[in-house]
Amino acid sequence: MSTLIEFADKLRREVDIARVVEGYVELRRGGLNLKGLCPFHREKTPSFTVSPSKQIFHCFGCGEGGDVIKFIQKIERVEWIDAVRLLSERNHIPMPEPRGGPRASQTRSERERLLAVNAFAAKHFAGLLAEALADAAHPAAQYLSRRKIDAPLAQRFGLGLSADAWSGLTGAARSAGFDTAGLAGAGLAIQNTQSPGRYYDRFRNRLIFPIADTMGRPVAFGGRVYAPNAAPDEPKYVNSPETLLYRKGQLLYALHLAKDAIVREKRALLMEGYMDVIRAHQNGLTAAVASCGTALTIEQAQALKKLCGQVVFVYDGDEAGQNAMLRGCEILLECEFDIRIVALPKDHDPDSFLLKHGAEKFADMIGTAPDFFTFFLDGACRRYDTRTPTGKVQAADFLMPLLSRMKNPIARQAYTRQEAERLEIDDALIMQQLNNRAGPAMNRLKEQIENQASAEHKGEKMLLRLAVESPEVRAQLAKRFDLVWVRNPSLRSWLGTCISMGAHENISWDDLFASCATEDERGSLRALIIELDEWEPPNTSVRAIAHTLARIELNYRRRISRELVRQIDQFYQAGDEQETLACTRSLDETAKPVPALGRQYFIRRQNP
Ligand code: UTP
Ligand code: MN
Repeated sequence: MSTLIEFADKLRREVDIARVVEGYVELRRGGLNLKGLCPFHREKTPSFTVSPSKQIFHCFGCGEGGDVIKFIQKIERVEWIDAVRLLSERNHIPMPEPRGGPRASQTRSERERLLAVNAFAAKHFAGLLAEALADAAHPAAQYLSRRKIDAPLAQRFGLGLSADAWSGLTGAARSAGFDTAGLAGAGLAIQNTQSPGRYYDRFRNRLIFPIADTMGRPVAFGGRVYAPNAAPDEPKYVNSPETLLYRKGQLLYALHLAKDAIVREKRALLMEGYMDVIRAHQNGLTAAVASCGTALTIEQAQALKKLCGQVVFVYDGDEAGQNAMLRGCEILLECEFDIRIVALPKDHDPDSFLLKHGAEKFADMIGTAPDFFTFFLDGACRRYDTRTPTGKVQAADFLMPLLSRMKNPIARQAYTRQEAERLEIDDALIMQQLNNRAGPAMNRLKEQIENQASAEHKGEKMLLRLAVESPEVRAQLAKRFDLVWVRNPSLRSWLGTCISMGAHENISWDDLFASCATEDERGSLRALIIELDEWEPPNTSVRAIAHTLARIELNYRRRISRELVRQIDQFYQAGDEQETLACTRSLDETAKPVPALGRQYFIRRQNP
């Protein structure tokens, strides 16, 4: 374990989160926990909770939560390492600086080293392009002129050129005193597999697009083939790999250039390609950024959300572009963006459209862009024959991921109505389907809060607590319990984790945190831990545990039988004797009493 991580643990142990939070938020006692108004979102009634015993905070309103370091990180808007530093200074717990350099400063100097190498490379590439542009016959000059990119524009975006050589950059960097292994660490050089001491350039004979962080410092590069003599099987773009500096999903191309315009215009134009963004800026549309050719991520959406409330998608007009926009909308809905969609003709991207039709036409399309739901509703109606029942179902299914991610209930209802009217179905049906949908991760927290009162849910939660705390319970679970009985998907997966860890070892909530795949999931788990803490300790007698398990099984069977009854009804009406029979048989099975609960819990057999 590294020194820094150990030190962070020490901070967590020695600095009381309640005392730290109290420096920022007025807290009141509420049971075991402390409550106050959340500093991370606007609220009138306190849903921000601090658990002194668990040393964590969690807001039931906005889902924000974590340990004392996370709190400082959020409230002071600093990096994790700086939060650690701050806590160390304020509490007079000195950060260790052992001989040989602590991990913290190693990481810092590693970042600085990478920044320096990237800066050098950017300058090197830009210099080569400037040289090439001086010679109108140079293929790079011809390429840029063909694509209508002049020198000032190229300079604005820091465009560059890499030599048609194996050690263009590598050689230049070495002469400038950079070591080659560092160049490889920055993703600029690649180690020769035959002779590991040797390195060659990653970017050879390509037009270079530097990718900068929000402060405008180059942290990665994209290189496009441009030469007329390039092999036909060369990939169009080569990109830097991820490094300590560069996490693809966290950056947006040209954000540092677009930032001000995005804030001023209160909206961002989201595009797919480097060339699209450059062309947009050239035409005065300076709020344009691109997602670097990958699917939009929640981090990118959050970065935009700090600047504006509206995103206008201007993806390529082809099928791939449409699909990418649909997935992108799901992400943006998480951050409650107002989303508009510009539909370019099939064979156009923003670059080609701007070149052909000009900035005015393009700005028009942005100004009149439909909101995303109208756009996809239209799309669904074109794609499916919504006069038929099957088509209606397909269209509704297609739109469901969008509706289910809408956080604002008013918007969701308005869009549901719009959809219902268009598909000529009852909006209650859509609502019902929305509620039945196994919640995607993002809705889990909300679901959890809504379900807090439900006894059924409470039983499942208690079971998880038992499973974490008691190896005996895990043994019982492994023997006679079926995970499908658990209704709540998060609880189901956490219980699965507990069971898979077996009955021998002690496990802790930390093991469950480690099993969480997303931040949302961790948020739900945190909320749950705090909630469970406020309950009476569970009855751990064998009988009580058996009863809890049986209850969960019973609830499962009730759900299944409700569904079967519905199906039997349907099949029966449709005259499908075979299916009706099959369902009634299943219902018989389901309706058997749950052994541990005895006859009073017999599920009444309901005949169609
Ligand atoms: P496009 O194929 O639309 O490229 O990919 P483009 O930017 O419009 O380039 P031109 O107009 O053909 O010159 C969109 C984005 O996807 C990423 C790049 O970020 C590109 O800008 N991409 C594409 C890659 O990373 N690798 C590839 O091989 C292709
Ligand atoms: Mn393109």
